Amino acid sequence: MRKIAHLSDLHFGTERKEIVEGLVKDLQLVEPDVIVISGDLTQRARTRQFKNAQVFLQRLEPPVVIVPGNHDIPLFDLFRRFLMPLTRYQKYITEDLSPVYLDDEILVYGVNSARSLTWKEGRISVEQMQEMHKALCEVPDSVFKIVVTHHPFIPPPEDEGIRLVGRSKKVLKIVAECGIDLLLAGHLHHGYSGDIRPYYPETKNSIIVAQAGTAISRRTRKKPNVYNLLTVDPLHMTITIKEWNGHQFFKRGTTFYHKEREEWRIGQE
Ligand SMILES: [Fe+2]
Ligand SMILES: [Fe+2]
Repeated sequence: MRKIAHLSDLHFGTERKEIVEGLVKDLQLVEPDVIVISGDLTQRARTRQFKNAQVFLQRLEPPVVIVPGNHDIPLFDLFRRFLMPLTRYQKYITEDLSPVYLDDEILVYGVNSARSLTWKEGRISVEQMQEMHKALCEVPDSVFKIVVTHHPFIPPPEDEGIRLVGRSKKVLKIVAECGIDLLLAGHLHHGYSGDIRPYYPETKNSIIVAQAGTAISRRTRKKPNVYNLLTVDPLHMTITIKEWNGHQFFKRGTTFYHKEREEWRIGQE
């Protein structure tokens, strides 16, 4: 069994300092095996914001898998936006735009879905899909496989009109071939989870999506500050929402999944 802390949309520049401290403390207590950060580390891709995100990352002990979000590409500085979109991200956060964490139980594979042109809506290129296919399929199916993007693969339950990551159908066709169980993303500042199949009827594989809200930012869109704590093994998965209550992160609720005949089903512990 592996424990994963999934943070998203930190938006340094709009962070609340007391929540940053609460988050670092909570992560020390829960001791995840790996921390995933699904993009938007900064509010406006400014140097100071990246430096503050870098200081935060240096305080985390477990391995971290990070992908950029649209806010990590400058929006108004058109020179940087189109000619050097992720230069600061790569300088202060990580050079690696296809980060991987692999041990004998889990694979976490990060994909950069942030784009200069379609700044708000992300997409995944054909080349990335080919790389993804190779990397995911060469790992045996006994390993629990997770893909991380910034942009979502399924909409929130109450807002089904929302734009999803570009080429999502093609990507799912590829990842389904390689036996993926879980997709992690953010961007909407709204935590929810569910199976992909109602939204992709042509995909037969049961794959669960877990979306994380914003962990530390003031940009909460009237939702609480949260992060997700997941446990995974080949037949079980739990997704616990940890919510900031003004003093600490508490467990707001847990969704339990178990795998039965190749299908992830919601059930009791
Ligand atoms: Fe965001
Ligand atoms: Fe975003």
